[in-house]
Amino acid sequence: MKGLILAGGSGTRLRPITHTGAKQLVPVANKPILFYGLEDLADAGVRDVGVVVGDTASEIEAAVGNGSHWGLQVTYLRQEQPLGLAHCVLIARDFLGDDDFVMYLGDNLLRGGVAQLVERFVADRSVPDAARRTGVSSPCAQILLARVPDPHRFGVAVLGPDGSVVSLVEKPAEPPSDLALVGVYLFDRRIHEAVRAIKPSERGELEITDAIRWLIDNGHSVRHEVLNGWWKDTGAVAPLLEGNRLVLEAIETSLMGTIDQTSRIEGRVVLEQGSEVKGSVVRGPAIIGTGTRILDSYVGPFTSIERDCEIVDSEIEHSIVLAESHIIGINRLVDSLLGRNVTVTRSGRRPNATRLTLGDHSHAELDQ
Ligand code: TTP
Repeated sequence: MKGLILAGGSGTRLRPITHTGAKQLVPVANKPILFYGLEDLADAGVRDVGVVVGDTASEIEAAVGNGSHWGLQVTYLRQEQPLGLAHCVLIARDFLGDDDFVMYLGDNLLRGGVAQLVERFVADRSVPDAARRTGVSSPCAQILLARVPDPHRFGVAVLGPDGSVVSLVEKPAEPPSDLALVGVYLFDRRIHEAVRAIKPSERGELEITDAIRWLIDNGHSVRHEVLNGWWKDTGAVAPLLEGNRLVLEAIETSLMGTIDQTSRIEGRVVLEQGSEVKGSVVRGPAIIGTGTRILDSYVGPFTSIERDCEIVDSEIEHSIVLAESHIIGINRLVDSLLGRNVTVTRSGRRPNATRLTLGDHSHAELDQ
C-alpha cells in the first residue's frame, strides 16, 4: 500500500494566506495540517508516500524533507498546474506503479486517522469473489462519506436501494443526499484507466468524482463507509478554525514556558518551551508557541498562537496566529486567522479611526 498526499492546488479560498505560503502548512494547534496526514499514513503502516506539489513545492519540501521524521520515504511529484484531483493520480502513475494506494488531500483533517480504513479495505479485497453476495465483486476503490449540513460544497454520493454507491456528483446545486465525499480514498490500479478515460469538467479540472463514477459505470465495485468521527476540509477560514478547535479539544496540559505570579492558566493549556505569560489569563484549550509572550492579556479557548509572537494588552479567542505576529492593545479579536509577521495595534492617534494596510484578497470585519 502506497500513499499519495495532494499538497498542490491554488488555495484561492484561503487567500491572502496562500499568496505567500502553502495552505497545507498552515498550523492547526501549532502543527502544519499536512503533518497530520503524514502521521495518519505512517500509523496505517504506509511507508512509501508520493507528495504532489505545485507552486509551493520548495516550501513543502523544506517542511517535510525526505519523510524520515515519520518513518516515511517521500517522493515529490511536481504538478505543473492544479488541474484536478484525478490529474494528480495521472501524474503519479510511474510512482504508484500497480500498487494499491491511499490518496489523502493535504488540507484535510480526519479524527481517528486511516489505519482501520486501510485494514478493512485490504480485508474486503482478500475475500474471493466466489464467497461474496451475488453480483458484488472485490472492491477496486473505497470512499469515505460524512453527513454534512452543506453538501452542495462537496462531492456527494448517491446511494441505491441496497445502500451501495450508485453515483457521485461534484458540488451539486441540488444535492441528492447529505453524504459528502471525505478527502481520503483508497484505490487499486484500475483507477489509472479511469483517470485516463475522463474529460475535464466545466471548471477545467479532472475530477476524482468523475473517475470514481467511471469505475462504477464500468461495473467495478466501490466500497464505502460513513465516517463516525469528525472530518474537516480546512481549505477555508471557518472550517480551518473549527479544525483547530477540534484538535485543541484533545490536547493535554504541558506548561514548559514561564508564568508569573499574577497570571492564571485555566483548563488545558500548552505553553511551549521559552514562552512567557505575564499579568494574563490563558483559558484553554489553547496553545502558545515557543518564544511567544503574552503580556497583560486574555487568551481564550480554541486559540493557537505560533512561535515568537507578542500579545500585549489584548484579548483573543477562537483564533489562529502564525509566527512572529504582534497584537497590541486590541480589545477582543475572535474567529481570526492572522498570517506570519502581522501587526494589529491600537494607535491612539487622532483622528480616532481604523487604519488598514491589507494585502490582496484580505478580509477585515470591524465592529464599528
Ligand atoms: P482543493 O481544496 O479542492 O483545491 P485548491 O487547493 O485548488 O483550493 P481552492 O478551491 O481554495 O482554490 O484541493 C484539495 C487538496 O488537493 C489540497 O491539498 C490541494 C490539492 N490539490 C492538488 O494537489 N492539485 C490539484 O490540482 C488540486 C485541484 C488540488
